[in-house]
Amino acid sequence: MEVVIHPSSQYLAGLAADAVEQLLRSKPDAVLGLATGSSPLAVYDELVRRHTESGLSFARARGFLLDEYVGLPADHPEGYRNVIERELVSRVDFAPGSVQAPAGGAEDLIAACAAYERSMADAGGVDLQILGIGTDGHVAFNEPGSSLASRTRVKTLTEQTRQDNARFFAGDVEAVPRHVLTQGLGTIMGARHLVLVATGRAKAEAVHQLVEGPVSALWPATVLQHHPHVTVLLDEGAASRLQLADYYRQTWSHKPAWQGL
Ligand code: GLP
Repeated sequence: MEVVIHPSSQYLAGLAADAVEQLLRSKPDAVLGLATGSSPLAVYDELVRRHTESGLSFARARGFLLDEYVGLPADHPEGYRNVIERELVSRVDFAPGSVQAPAGGAEDLIAACAAYERSMADAGGVDLQILGIGTDGHVAFNEPGSSLASRTRVKTLTEQTRQDNARFFAGDVEAVPRHVLTQGLGTIMGARHLVLVATGRAKAEAVHQLVEGPVSALWPATVLQHHPHVTVLLDEGAASRLQLADYYRQTWSHKPAWQGL
C-alpha cells in the first residue's frame, strides 16, 4: 500500500488523474472503476480538463460504478448512474452505453447483482478502480460487518452513512434510501489497481484503520491491505491520525521517478 500525504487536494487529484491517463494512453480500451461521493470529484474535473485540453480520450474505455441506491426513480438526480453521467461521462467522450451501474431499479435485485458481476467479468475485470472511503470505513457501500469476500449484492445502509449522505438529499436523512446494491469487497479486490482518495479530518479514523489497523469486517476498507497494488491519496486532515505519517512522507519524497504510481 502506497500512502501519499499532501496538503493540496488538487495535487492529489492530479496524481489520480495521472494514473488514469497513463492507463488510457497505454490501453485505450481499459476498464475503469468509477466511484461517486464527493472525494473523486476533483479527479473527474482534472480528467475532463485533460480531455478538453490535451485530447485524453475515453472513446474506447468502459466504466463500472461501485454502487447504486435501490428504489430511486430512474431520473432522480442523486441516483449514482445520474451522478456519474453529470460529473464525468457527459463531459468526456465515453461511447454511449459504455458505463454501467448496478440496476437499483430492477424488480429482481438478486438477478441484477449476478448480471452486474457477469458484465464486469465479460469486460475482463477492472483495470483501475477509483475509491473513496466512508467515515465508518466503508468502501462502495460495504458497511461494517460486510464479508471480506463479498460479491455484488443488496446491503442495508447504517444510520451513520444515511446521515453522511443526507447532504445530497437536501439534508433529509429520511429521503436517503435504506437499501443499496454494491460491488462486494471481493469484487473490488479483483480490480488490478486501487486508487483511494480521502480528504478532511472526518476521514482520519477510517484512514488510520484502513492503512494501519487490523484487518477486520468492522472496518471493511482494511481488506485493501491484502491487495498488491493500492495507492492511498490523503490530505493533511485525512492523514492526521496515521501513526507512521512521517515514514510515508519520507518514502514519497524519495520515491524514484521511474517507479510511477
Ligand atoms: C458513499 C459512497 C462511497 C463513497 C463514500 C464516501 O456513501 N457509496 O463510494 O466513497 O460514501 O463519500 P464522500 O467521498 O462523499 O465522503
